[in-house]
Amino acid sequence: MSGKATAVAPSNIAFIKYWGTRDVDKTLPYNPSISMTLSECVSRCTVEHDSTLAANEILLLTDGRLEPAPQQFAAGIERHLERLKVWAAVEGAFRVATGNSFPTGAGMASSASGFAALTLAVAAALERPLTESEASLLSRSSGSGSAARSVLGGYVEWPDDGLEGPATRLAPADHWALSDVVAVVSSREKDVSSREGHRRAPGSPMWEGRLEALPERLRRVREAIADRSIDDLGPVIEGEALDLHLIAMSSRPPILYWTAETIAVLRRVRELREEGLDAYSTIDAGPNIHVICPTAQEGDVATALREMAETEMVITDRVGDGPYLTEDHLG
Ligand code: PMV
Repeated sequence: MSGKATAVAPSNIAFIKYWGTRDVDKTLPYNPSISMTLSECVSRCTVEHDSTLAANEILLLTDGRLEPAPQQFAAGIERHLERLKVWAAVEGAFRVATGNSFPTGAGMASSASGFAALTLAVAAALERPLTESEASLLSRSSGSGSAARSVLGGYVEWPDDGLEGPATRLAPADHWALSDVVAVVSSREKDVSSREGHRRAPGSPMWEGRLEALPERLRRVREAIADRSIDDLGPVIEGEALDLHLIAMSSRPPILYWTAETIAVLRRVRELREEGLDAYSTIDAGPNIHVICPTAQEGDVATALREMAETEMVITDRVGDGPYLTEDHLG
């Protein structure tokens, strides 16, 4: 038997971060996280299931061409395919072709979009319809917790309760037009993976303080989204990102994701506010800065960031509706 399907899934940017893994096998976090699903930065994944195929074939779109995926990249996909085969109770193997709309190493969460697209494409190729909750839980089992959020559009919280559940939607994309203007200051691959960062995080002396602050911070972000208030959202997400990096920097051994350019952009975003823009920074596990602002201001923010000598590239993205299936196959 053979079935083929393609899924497109977006990346997301966290306002409240998932940082620290409570259970590595199940990918369970210590705290709920809240994110905005994006629309332009997406992964497209085509999967063909072949019950007679002996081994998986994994191709990655590189400079516009499908090529055998590098070993480490393929290994992550292989591991997730094994889990999906157990879930679906099928034999055989898969032909997988996957690619990102954004440059690799641009500081976008390619594991979130990539594993969400892979999960949805496998389920569709096997003709196994998934609810959003099932898709979220299955995507999380890839080991990328943020993938649990990428299966839903709009503003998303994961987990919904009890720290074991799936992601849920706080509000649809059309509730609030926000943009994510990404100042890429380094496209080098980061030295320490987020997986390792999650592992070291509880060793930081700053760890307990953040956990104590989180319930109030989560409440403020949920409210700011409900009220569409950038004035309320912005300061919380900036403080939250600084806390993640304080924890990383004070983990043992310490992790320093920032470069001098990161700090220059953080300072510039403060100036932009003094100049009247509603722009606020957040940073994932890397040196690049995501500037969150009302979509009406994204052009001004992007222009200001492009003018900086410190930025290699500026990517403008917006809140989006989430993943979809398409007949537009890769390969
Ligand atoms: O999903 P992972 O294991 O790639 O971890 C994501 C970690 C952050 O991007 C730093 C925060 C987040 O919630 O997306």
